[in-house]
Amino acid sequence: MLPFLVGTNWKMNKTMQESRSYLDSFLRLARRYSRGGHARFFVIPPHTHLQAAGELLAGEPVLLGAQNAHWMDFGPYTGEISPVWLKELGVNIIELGHSERRQYYGENDFDLNLKVKAAQRHNLISLLCIGENAREKACGVTEEVLRYQLKAALHEITPAPDSIWVAYEPVWAIGEGGVPADPDYVAWVHARIARCLQELLGGIAERTPILYGGSVSPENCAELSGLEHVNGLFIGRSAWDLTAFTALLSHLEHAGVLSDSYRK
Ligand code: PGA
Repeated sequence: MLPFLVGTNWKMNKTMQESRSYLDSFLRLARRYSRGGHARFFVIPPHTHLQAAGELLAGEPVLLGAQNAHWMDFGPYTGEISPVWLKELGVNIIELGHSERRQYYGENDFDLNLKVKAAQRHNLISLLCIGENAREKACGVTEEVLRYQLKAALHEITPAPDSIWVAYEPVWAIGEGGVPADPDYVAWVHARIARCLQELLGGIAERTPILYGGSVSPENCAELSGLEHVNGLFIGRSAWDLTAFTALLSHLEHAGVLSDSYRK
């Protein structure tokens, strides 16, 4: 049984001061809802906020993630972030391949493969984001796109247990203009991802959580979390707003996702 994952990437939001008070509240909620050991929380602040966040979260039931890292430890890579430094700051997770990084910064599946290898080398969890765009969905090539992304990013990886998390984030469902995905569609896609992971990772696949992300809200979280191969939610806007996040967690609790009755 995998604990249910609940986490958020802040993207390029929040000042240091906002970050501190947000984390205090997030931590209070995480302590409360992870008590039974059925849920695992994580936050992914901007790089400049990681040191303060690492100090605050040390020993707490919240894993800390970074939004990107280079695949090399050191070298002539101006402006880049070394996984060694992230380790020093107490980071547990590296988010890789978010669609905004793919779209605006040309992050590709082959670079992601190098980054997953770097994460493995440093005992960091790779939170690998995959997803089709609207055009690919319309052309009916979602499964092919996701298989391509997974096969390239996980090429020649023999992962340690709990070192790869996959987030399915359909590009058309993310952010302000995003359209929330239909739960039937999410169920279908997650089953395909699970099958592909089985093929690529063998036995480790059963212990590789698949999160869903893209316009997750208090309204749709319970239904999404109940789907068979959905092992967590990766939340943007609805987690940044603490009122919405509190409501979302209470919906998950009522749906039994954060309690003893949760089995998946
Ligand atoms: P959203 O963001 O929940 O605001 O759609 C999700 C994401 O980009 O991971």
